[in-house]
Amino acid sequence: MGHQITITIDGPAGVGKSTLGRRLAQALGYRYVDSGALYRAVAWQAQNVQVDPGDPDAVARMLADFQPRVTAATQGFQVAVEGWDITPELRTPAVTAGSSLVATQPRVREWVNQTLRQLAREGGMVAEGRDLGSVVFPDAAVKFYLDADLNTRASRRQREWQASGGDTDLAGTQNTIAARDRQDSTRMVAPLTVPQGAHYLDTTNLQPDEVATQCLALIRQDLEARAIGI
Ligand code: DC
Repeated sequence: MGHQITITIDGPAGVGKSTLGRRLAQALGYRYVDSGALYRAVAWQAQNVQVDPGDPDAVARMLADFQPRVTAATQGFQVAVEGWDITPELRTPAVTAGSSLVATQPRVREWVNQTLRQLAREGGMVAEGRDLGSVVFPDAAVKFYLDADLNTRASRRQREWQASGGDTDLAGTQNTIAARDRQDSTRMVAPLTVPQGAHYLDTTNLQPDEVATQCLALIRQDLEARAIGI
């Protein structure tokens, strides 16, 4: 068994981070960690106990006794509250909107970051989010930043929603993603940015397989250069 390293993937909404994260985790036999799901879990809990997700003090009080069970596996990332798997409920429009609000709050970011660092101590992982290579794991062994133009990202998101039975129009999806991009990259704490030392990949004209193949080659190259085995 080689070193158990952390690989980070950052980038805007709908860029293909989850698809890449799962593929890399499977190829390497590492766990896949979805940090956005932790922000979403905080928003879910706020809704569950009727706390305003835009009220940082109320959210901080709520976090004091919020201890979800987090399962990171090669196949996926799950969050359970009091024995109930809430993962399928994390992508509703209300939870999505709430997650962008709680993600601006330093107390919430601290809680998520502690959870992520604990997961990293437990072994190799591929973790995706907005600030993983810049703030949470600045010393990660390999970092990626994925980008793609807004049209492409909106079309991908729309196809995902359609596949799960949702009904959305492309212009609406573009507006929602553009608004989230703005919120994520202009917030005061840990804004979305290209981390120092990250490989920047524009995935606009790439298929998921091509992205994964390129990233696996870059991982091998980075680790060989540093004499780290995987
Ligand atoms: O990736 P996602 O859509 O599941 O993320 C949900 C929200 O959490 C989104 O507003 C971005 C935010 N987020 C963040 O601020 N930092 C991260 N590391 C991951 C997600």
